[in-house]
Amino acid sequence: MQKNIINQIQACASMQELEELRISVLGKNGSLSRKFAELKNLDEDSKKKTAANLNKEKDEFNKYYNEKAQLLQEKELELKMQENVFNFAYFDDRAKTAAFHPLMQTMDKIINYFVNLNFSIESGPLIEDDFHNFEALNLPSSHPARDMQDTFYFKNKNLLRTHTSPVQIRTMLKQKPPIRIIAPGAVFRRDFDITHTPMFHQIEGLVVEDGDRVSFANLKSLLEEFLIYIFGDVKIRFRPSFFPFTEPSAEVDISCVFCKGSGCRVCKHTGWLEVLGCGVVDSNVFNFVSYENVSGYAFGLGIERFAMLLHKIPDLRSMYEGDLRLLEQFR
Ligand code: PHE
Repeated sequence: MQKNIINQIQACASMQELEELRISVLGKNGSLSRKFAELKNLDEDSKKKTAANLNKEKDEFNKYYNEKAQLLQEKELELKMQENVFNFAYFDDRAKTAAFHPLMQTMDKIINYFVNLNFSIESGPLIEDDFHNFEALNLPSSHPARDMQDTFYFKNKNLLRTHTSPVQIRTMLKQKPPIRIIAPGAVFRRDFDITHTPMFHQIEGLVVEDGDRVSFANLKSLLEEFLIYIFGDVKIRFRPSFFPFTEPSAEVDISCVFCKGSGCRVCKHTGWLEVLGCGVVDSNVFNFVSYENVSGYAFGLGIERFAMLLHKIPDLRSMYEGDLRLLEQFR
């Protein structure tokens, strides 16, 4: 075959060029096809000879054509793949699975602990009325203890609940003893600094039994075991305190998780951190829900505070900033 045609095949840069070349050689009016057509004008002898040559030429053309076509198709496929390329490297360290927020992780851990002890989970509305949030909890409107709470009020005197304790009242009004509940949820106070946000979360606990079956001793052992489960090797102390809805009342401290009790900025050099409030349910509260001849205890804790101490997060506000540099540490 003419060197020329082989060169032309090899010079083709695309399947389209190669196809055009094939048509110009083997198409209806192609150079080789025309030579085949002229065979009929030759005498028998030279017809045979020429036909043999032409067939050889055709086979040779096809051989070079097929080789080139394969090369070009591979090249074109590769180009196409590059065009549609999906750059997986881009997702290298982005396509991570979701994870629970440290606050929710802490909440789940606490809830699970009490659920395993047969506490059931209760909830109440975030918008409360004066009766459930204050009055029935032994905080009459004249009571100075109301100053302890900085409250968000609505025009109609409703309010954003300042603690989860109103769930105590709601539960006692709809159930009879024995009661054994925890009530997790958001609460609201007018406060904003490195240890306070206007919305935060509490878990309330309430146990009520007929007669005098439960005592402060039960409360104390429950909370001691709970705090050791959560914080590990810490010292625990119950400090006499006051809440209108419990009597006697206590605040519970753990030895500072930052300085191990030797005194630092976080514990204000006392060696202790307050982590919850508790007490024996005040008989006035039972009067408000018409319970007679019962005994009970209650406790309340701030989940953010637990999460901060557990994970040594210095600024409470960072819990709500959604900064991935913080959150990714809790995956
Ligand atoms: N409600 C109290 C507070 O918000 C905590 C508490 C709950 C104290 C139950 C005693 C019993 O500070």
